[in-house]
Amino acid sequence: MATPAEPTYREEAFPSIDEAEAAAVGEGRRSASPEPDVNQGGHGGIRALGDARRILEKPAPYDSVENEFYRRVRAGEYPEFTPVVPASYTADQVRGMLGGELSAAESAGLDDGNCVYLQNITSDLDQAKTLDTKIGRSTTSYRENRAQQDKSAWDAGLKSFKFVFGADLVTGSTLRGWRVVAGTDAGGNRLLDGMQSQQILSRFSDDPAVWDRMIGKMKEIRTAADSSELGFVAASVFSVHGTRNGETRVDAKLIDFAHVIDARNPFKSPPPSAESSPRLGGAPAARDLTSAGNKYRDRFVSGMDALIADATRIRATKAARAAMAPASGQTQSSAAAPAAVAQTAKNVKSTGPRR
Ligand SMILES: Nc1ncnc2c1ncn2[C@@H]1O[C@H](COP(=O)(O)OP(=O)(O)O)[C@@H](O)[C@H]1O
Ligand SMILES: [Mg+2]
Repeated sequence: MATPAEPTYREEAFPSIDEAEAAAVGEGRRSASPEPDVNQGGHGGIRALGDARRILEKPAPYDSVENEFYRRVRAGEYPEFTPVVPASYTADQVRGMLGGELSAAESAGLDDGNCVYLQNITSDLDQAKTLDTKIGRSTTSYRENRAQQDKSAWDAGLKSFKFVFGADLVTGSTLRGWRVVAGTDAGGNRLLDGMQSQQILSRFSDDPAVWDRMIGKMKEIRTAADSSELGFVAASVFSVHGTRNGETRVDAKLIDFAHVIDARNPFKSPPPSAESSPRLGGAPAARDLTSAGNKYRDRFVSGMDALIADATRIRATKAARAAMAPASGQTQSSAAAPAAVAQTAKNVKSTGPRR
């Protein structure tokens, strides 16, 4: 049976990643984005709403994993994730929040059956700097593609194969556990940005205080995932810093939920019905995602540990530099170099697989 086109899998339509990149640039899905901070490393189509660009509209059909994930978060099903993912809203809530900031046509066009509406964590910041880091040593899963993405065995295998021997290996995801996919200092080429992940990360800020707060947020994300039953394939930590009323603000949220695994309550599983398997008089046995969920939670947590360790190391270098050149004009944090080194040693702990 033919499977319907899946809009979030555009790269599969291209014979090579280079051609996909070229097409993305040509179609304006890379640096030519009308939104400076969005769409850069993603699949495109995200747009900001409201005078202050307070809300982002991201295309995600009602029956996609991402739409369902945010609905479940709003329903309180994953309380551990509520503080570490962007707030999300129904179309009605967005109408209520933005009111007169939307034209009548815009307001009527809001559709949570086709999109998710997210808090834009860059919206009220001046001089915002962003960084999108994809977490995990492999960023696609054969099992998840088969079970939740309407992929044939061939398509799911091909996609996994391309990432295992392509993007994940070349960009260093396989070894590093995370990679840069977008951000202010990223160049817009997925492979190059991935390969230069460490350098791009270290350019995020020279202020040790920014690193402290970002690392704190990253640890919250890691803890939420580790204490959960979910597995994340290709989710991102999206970090931002900037100023509001002259004060430095830092945030980092977990985003991009096209491939979440909840083995206890799989996404996109139709309610059991007698019609779905006339021969047996019941629903076909659901694919068991328990081991895939555990594997991708472990990989996510290890990826977060690696990212936190890298950020912690960079922070120590920045703190040492700030201590040596106090008059260089950058924001001073209270941390002096020796304290930074002590903190590094404390923080760099690697946790083995949980199960
Ligand atoms: N809540 C948010 N606040 C601010 N920017 C966001 C938010 N969510 C996504 N973005 C921006 O949009 C980009 C793509 O988002 P993402 O959810 O990863 O989409 P895709 O599925 O297309 O990869 C991110 O790299 C980031 O720049
Ligand atoms: Mg993304």
